[in-house]
Amino acid sequence: MASPAIPSHRDLDVDNRRVFVRVDFNVPLGEGGTVRDDTRIVASLPTLRNLIERGAKLIIASHLGRPKGGYEAKYAMEPVAGRLAELLSTEVRVPTEEVVGDAATKLVADLRAGQIVLLQNLRFHPGETKNDPKFSQALAQLCDAYVNDAFGASHRAHASVVGLPQLVRARGAGDLLLAECKALSRLVDAPEHPFVAIVGGAKVSDKLGVLVALVERLRAGDVVVVGGAMANTFLAAGGASLGGSLQERDRYADCTMVLEKAAARDIRVLLPTDLRVGEGLQATRARRLPAMGPLGEAEMALDIGPDSEAAIAAAIAKAKMVLWNGPMGLFENPAFAEGTNAVAKAVAVCPGFTVVGGGDSVAAVVAAGVADRIGHVSTGGGASLEFIEGQVLPGVAALAPEGD
Ligand code: 3PG
Repeated sequence: MASPAIPSHRDLDVDNRRVFVRVDFNVPLGEGGTVRDDTRIVASLPTLRNLIERGAKLIIASHLGRPKGGYEAKYAMEPVAGRLAELLSTEVRVPTEEVVGDAATKLVADLRAGQIVLLQNLRFHPGETKNDPKFSQALAQLCDAYVNDAFGASHRAHASVVGLPQLVRARGAGDLLLAECKALSRLVDAPEHPFVAIVGGAKVSDKLGVLVALVERLRAGDVVVVGGAMANTFLAAGGASLGGSLQERDRYADCTMVLEKAAARDIRVLLPTDLRVGEGLQATRARRLPAMGPLGEAEMALDIGPDSEAAIAAAIAKAKMVLWNGPMGLFENPAFAEGTNAVAKAVAVCPGFTVVGGGDSVAAVVAAGVADRIGHVSTGGGASLEFIEGQVLPGVAALAPEGD
């Protein structure tokens, strides 16, 4: 059970009260500090709008990037505040460089019902990632109620995610957090078969936890697809000659272990049978090769090939449930985007319940124009993986009513 019963923010009395809303506005920024993709901001609007309608004084807070525990202009929240103000058609004030202190206290004290302060990047304070009780106390001084709508950050046992809610009796989950938990719980608690899990991305080491959980929990006839550079490590562990391809040589034993566990339970692991390769990451032309190679010294496997795409699409077409996290190749280079695109389209037409998570896979379904045909598009990367592994996320656990 990855999601204990948690109260909704809608049951809190928020009228004219100071409500701290932890959101995950860790969004990609583009040139000149503009927000390049506002998906995560848009995803929290239902919660924010509802709180505004109910007369809350909003103190919204997020981390942005990974600053080193002090102010860094490139991670300041002003561009995010600008986008949020546009989306809500209202003013959003941001204290200067400090997260807590006189400037934030003053802005919060001046708030009237329905007004908004967006705190500075929580990770500008070293206490955030250390879950420092003093920092949690300082945040608690700012509010009367706490709402967590930051699903994407709820796997982090940080002060604003775990320490703070434990100090605030009136606490609840935002609509986004509840929707994420509901959709992902379906995959964990009520899987339907055949279940197809598609796991891609650069590294086996990043996805090992979820791969092991899948081959231990799925059942005969289910399918685990491995793609992206992590598939190179699996292929190389099986003897493929992959030239200059990215791979993790110290992970061959893990790959073998995953394959053995899957075989013992009759779970099919679909590795690429063919590849698109190029001379370096900037290559503009792809050459097609069988997955066992051999690649030239300077060549890299940068995408799965058409035979692999067809095999994956055939598995997805029969699935009752699909989980996809991680691209099939270097999809930001158009010469190597076809595999990821083909998976996005196949997931979109699957009649079963489909979930896509992780920034790159979500970007791929958006780029393919099929995001609205996915059952649930998760705003969580690491958080959705840990949820699928069956872990109770610390930020979700921290919302449980006292005594639970
Ligand atoms: C994410 O982008 O997955 C979340 O915002 C968490 O960010 P983090 O990995 O820097 O903690």
